[in-house]
Amino acid sequence: MRAMRFLTGLAILLVLGAGAFVSYAWHSAIDPIDPPSQASFDRTLVARGADLAAIGNCNVCHTAPGGQPFAGGLGIPTPFGTIYSTNITPDPETGIGRWPEAAFIRSMRKGVDREGRHLYPAFPYDHYTLVSDEDNRALYAFLMTRSAVSAAPPENELPFPFNMRMLLAGWKALYFREGPYQPDTSKTAEWNRGHYLTEGLSHCGACHTPRNRLGAEKKDEYFAGAEVENWTVYPINANSPAPIPWEADSLTFYLRHGWHEHHGASRGSMAPVTANLGSIPEPDVRAIATYVADVMGRPSQERIARGEAALATVRKESASPLALRASSTGSGIGEAIFLSACQGCHDGRRSVPFGGLNLHLSSAVNAPNAQNIINVTLFGLPAAKGEPSAIMPAYRGVLSQDQLVALLDYMRERFSDQPAWADTRERVAATMNGEREVPIYRMDGTTQAPPETSMRTAPWP
Ligand code: HEC
Ligand code: HEC
Ligand code: HEC
Repeated sequence: MRAMRFLTGLAILLVLGAGAFVSYAWHSAIDPIDPPSQASFDRTLVARGADLAAIGNCNVCHTAPGGQPFAGGLGIPTPFGTIYSTNITPDPETGIGRWPEAAFIRSMRKGVDREGRHLYPAFPYDHYTLVSDEDNRALYAFLMTRSAVSAAPPENELPFPFNMRMLLAGWKALYFREGPYQPDTSKTAEWNRGHYLTEGLSHCGACHTPRNRLGAEKKDEYFAGAEVENWTVYPINANSPAPIPWEADSLTFYLRHGWHEHHGASRGSMAPVTANLGSIPEPDVRAIATYVADVMGRPSQERIARGEAALATVRKESASPLALRASSTGSGIGEAIFLSACQGCHDGRRSVPFGGLNLHLSSAVNAPNAQNIINVTLFGLPAAKGEPSAIMPAYRGVLSQDQLVALLDYMRERFSDQPAWADTRERVAATMNGEREVPIYRMDGTTQAPPETSMRTAPWP
């Protein structure tokens, strides 16, 4: 079945690759230069580039666990094989030290390297193509003034035919629309700024929009949610599962701080995104929030009423924690575990992020599957390095599979009005036996966390 799909995909790509040859296939090499001196770059341009690199999460993919910043070598799993990020420090031999600015701008705009070879869209140039020349110049200045690190990434682990970069000409013909960004003049300047950043450098859709079998985002399921690295990425469109509807203010706060009192903490691969956004000027984050809130749309009266009811329940429960026990609907083992192991922190009496969210407010219990709760319960929330942060103990080795399934079923019934999850047992088993590898990211702090790449720790042993 899988092989068949690959073959069909391959056939499509070959036909398109041939068709697209003229327009996409051939790019000439751009001559190398002697690495420019760091002093030749304007300081304000470099500072601007630092903010843009944070918005673009360049550090997250271009730093291997325990490796030097931007020196590459992180393996990015795709359905086709593993692709390693490259060294984008100014090292002349293994990095981009000999790349002229024009080659860098072309790589961002067209997804081609200095020598003219197609790059895999694991490098999200389908978004970065929208970045303006001016912003690309600032990014180039920032990267070329980092410390040069000599480090060559491992070879990609892509089976034939996916190791043929030529095929990417076909992919580009099908799915790639070249930028730069064109503003929508019917909207406000802030909306356009937000649209430019969200679709371009921030590439939110790379995780929040589901992909087709050739790895391209499904434009007709924009921000509809997906699963990335065994974390469930929630929808951030009209189908947002958040009990209290998101709005521009709460989004701004969450994106900058990594948590919100009505929504809890950002976890998994969202944690480095909010850590990076915590380091950039507020107006840019607010612009992103304004645009995303617009995509979500105005919540219906009914949804607002449900959010208010959830908040009222939470207030009642935090005033008198015993109410939780009295109003419990479930019974048996799941309830017993929740009341003894979880309730003490999740009764809403201690505020987020040091206290746990009252789960009546959690998107996780309303999500299409239990994966994120499984991940958080088994692996906990590791503390951020050297700063206050949300912490939750890991229950791996404490709970059996049956107990975890019972706990999850109870939480779904107790805190959500959605039907029971269908695949909880399979997910619990696959996660506990390591078949589903879950990368764990340290939490960013309570305020502005440094955009620190060691947040990404290796998958647990
Ligand atoms: C989601 C992961 C991801 C993010 C985020 C990312 N990159 Fe990359 N990047 C990659 C991968 C993977 C490659 C290698 C692609 C290939 O081999 O075809 C790459 C390649 C590149 C290259 C080509 C280098 C070469 O030697 O061929 C440049 C330049 C680059 N990235 C710059 C950036 C910049 C600047 C940012 C931030 C604005 C960024 N990348 C963010 C994954 C990422
Ligand atoms: C690398 C993947 C990735 C990228 C890029 C990403 N997200 Fe997320 N996002 C996630 C994951 C995973 C979650 C679920 C996290 C959790 O359970 O706390 C999430 C959760 C969220 C939530 C919380 C939703 C809820 O109802 O609780 C919001 C809001 C959000 N993301 C917005 C954004 C925006 C805006 C961007 C772009 C600036 C973005 N994300 C980029 C992976 C990503
Ligand atoms: C020592 C305190 C503590 C204990 C005990 C604890 N948690 Fe947490 N938990 C937290 C904190 C702090 C957070 C981060 C804030 C937040 O998002 O709720 C968190 C987050 C979570 C989240 C994410 C909520 C969201 O949507 O943002 C879930 C789900 C969760 N915990 C489930 C559990 C379960 C299940 C148990 C019992 C097996 C448990 N927790 C026990 C402190 C705790």
